[in-house]
Amino acid sequence: MKAVERAKLVRSLRQESRRLRLLVLVIGFFLVTLTFVVLSKPDALLFNLNGRLSVDEAPRSLLIRQATDADATADPAQRSAAAQDPKPLDDFEDAEANAKATTKDSEERAHTVRDPQQSGKKEPESRLLGSGGGEGEKKGHRKVTLPTVSNYTIRDAEDGDNAKQQDSRPETENKLEMVAGKSDGSQQQDWDDAEWGSKPLCDFSNFRANVCEMRGNIRIHPNASSVMYMEPASSKRNELWKLKPYPRKGDELCLSKVTELTVKSSKVAPECTKYHNVPVVVFALTGYTGNLFHDFTDALVPLFTTASEFNGEVQFLITDMAIWWTRKYHVVFKKLSNYPLIDFNKDTDVHCVKHAIVGLHAYMEFTIDPSKAPHNYTMVDFNRFMRRTYELPREAVSALGEIPKAKPRLLIISRQRTRMFLNLPEIIAMAEGLGFEVVVEEANVSSDLSQFSKVVNSVDVMMGVHGAGLTNCVFLPHNATLIQIVPWGGIEGVCRIDFGDPAEQMGLRYKQYSIAVHESSLTDQYPLDHEIFKNPLAFHKGFEFIKETFMDKQNVRLDCNRFRPVLLQTLDLLNQ
Ligand SMILES: *[C@@H]1O[C@H](CO)[C@@H](O)[C@H](O)[C@H]1NC(C)=O
Ligand SMILES: *[C@@H]1O[C@H](CO)[C@@H](O)[C@H](O)[C@H]1NC(C)=O
Ligand SMILES: *[C@@H]1O[C@H](CO)[C@@H](O)[C@H](O)[C@H]1NC(C)=O
Ligand SMILES: *[C@@H]1O[C@H](CO)[C@@H](O)[C@H](O)[C@H]1NC(C)=O
Ligand SMILES: *[C@@H]1O[C@H](CO)[C@@H](O)[C@H](O)[C@H]1NC(C)=O
Repeated sequence: MKAVERAKLVRSLRQESRRLRLLVLVIGFFLVTLTFVVLSKPDALLFNLNGRLSVDEAPRSLLIRQATDADATADPAQRSAAAQDPKPLDDFEDAEANAKATTKDSEERAHTVRDPQQSGKKEPESRLLGSGGGEGEKKGHRKVTLPTVSNYTIRDAEDGDNAKQQDSRPETENKLEMVAGKSDGSQQQDWDDAEWGSKPLCDFSNFRANVCEMRGNIRIHPNASSVMYMEPASSKRNELWKLKPYPRKGDELCLSKVTELTVKSSKVAPECTKYHNVPVVVFALTGYTGNLFHDFTDALVPLFTTASEFNGEVQFLITDMAIWWTRKYHVVFKKLSNYPLIDFNKDTDVHCVKHAIVGLHAYMEFTIDPSKAPHNYTMVDFNRFMRRTYELPREAVSALGEIPKAKPRLLIISRQRTRMFLNLPEIIAMAEGLGFEVVVEEANVSSDLSQFSKVVNSVDVMMGVHGAGLTNCVFLPHNATLIQIVPWGGIEGVCRIDFGDPAEQMGLRYKQYSIAVHESSLTDQYPLDHEIFKNPLAFHKGFEFIKETFMDKQNVRLDCNRFRPVLLQTLDLLNQ
């Protein structure tokens, strides 16, 4: 009896221990896997667990306001305020911008200063997409976490003389580095640029932006609005450049608000009061900023192009500061620079730098020219940067059916006051009939970018009438589709340059839909046999006139039968 019981006991114990061992094995395996996943691909985990959540978590108020007409929901007070606003454009992004804006219509003024020689030139898409891989990886950065500003005053004459003599550089550097409390010599490169000696300080050849770049012993002196490149006594260099560091070359109206800087070679210079161990980028912020399109094409894209290679180890010196603007985009600034912004116009220090860039690299409207940009950056890189900056979960659209039961999502960018959709409910119903989940949003002054970017990133297709709101396409996932609706007036070319070419360079699919006469509210103002319908190009009498005639006084009543095929095509694209 006893033996039997003992045998039973032993057996059950053994079973227990086997179960336990199995359990331990399973848990162990799970932990190892988890650790591996977390270590190797933290993003993947995040995406898998939360990727779609963000969509569902989007505030209720943002989702499908199907039945409501934009007008019906608008706050009456705001509407009357809007009505009194003498400025026709509702694209301004910030009240302060409005207040200070003599640039009453900055949105499309861009078009007046476009270089015709550049239009039509396009990078092959495959190349663009191909070069998009791994923004972070291809840059081999060294992180410098040393004090960058010292209160030491460099003795001018000596350092100035040494700076240009390659052989004596290490000595100079030692001196400087002792001061800055650093000795690893990782900045040696900055000093050892032997090529630099003969290169002109500035490059004025670009049609859109003048940029100066120099390495050596540089003094930036805000009092005198000047940047001085120190020369040894024996040097023959004698350069003097004047530039406004805002990338709208030739646009006098815009540049009239921008401080002119002098960049010169010099043998005498003021004493340094601040020393920077990282490169300094000097640029202006007024101009046309305050309009979403210009925020990007004039400032954010050029800033990314110019400064992202430094991986945060860069100091920004901003002339013509717009504090509200730096607040609006503070997440972008935080991503680009680890150092507090310096307001150049208020600053009285003499900054000593080894590497300075004055002005921002900019090319065609809202694009990056990879053949000229540092590190061959592309708009694909820019979009990836923006998605990361705003912590957006979707890198690319997923094919239909990949996520069961998920409907393709369509964002309609609505507008108020100008270029509105007059039949929004009908458009929404049609899109829903095709199987879309529809989101209607308006990007305006009060839009919170971090929230709005999440909505944009959650959709597969974004559509809207030509206007600054389409700039939000930077937040779309890769391979999403942008549909631009072109108002009547023969303005297809401008529309393509502003958003079509950029969208394609961003790795988005792009559709352009030109409305027909019967879809334009201009038919309420002019008889059907009017010249404006027969020959709209006759009304292209300067930018102001075009804007008044076709942009400010036109709304769109989309012909759903005519437009439906475009949406169907986007569904086809999602199936690829
Ligand atoms: C300057 O630096 C020295 C040591 O680096 C420090 O003791 C001193 O307080 C600093 N002076 C100022 C004004 O920051
Ligand atoms: C710059 O101007 C400020 C005030 O106007 C003055 O205190 C400062 O000494 C000046 N700096 C130089 C280097 O001239
Ligand atoms: C960028 O592209 C051009 C050709 O488009 C090439 O000549 C150049 O070497 C590239 N620059 C870098 C840094 O890869
Ligand atoms: C801005 O858009 C929101 C919806 O996103 C809307 O509720 C608000 O009335 C709009 N504000 C203005 C000033 O047009
Ligand atoms: C985008 O779509 C193309 C096919 O149209 C595909 O080859 C490519 O891998 C997609 N890109 C991403 C990032 O999903």
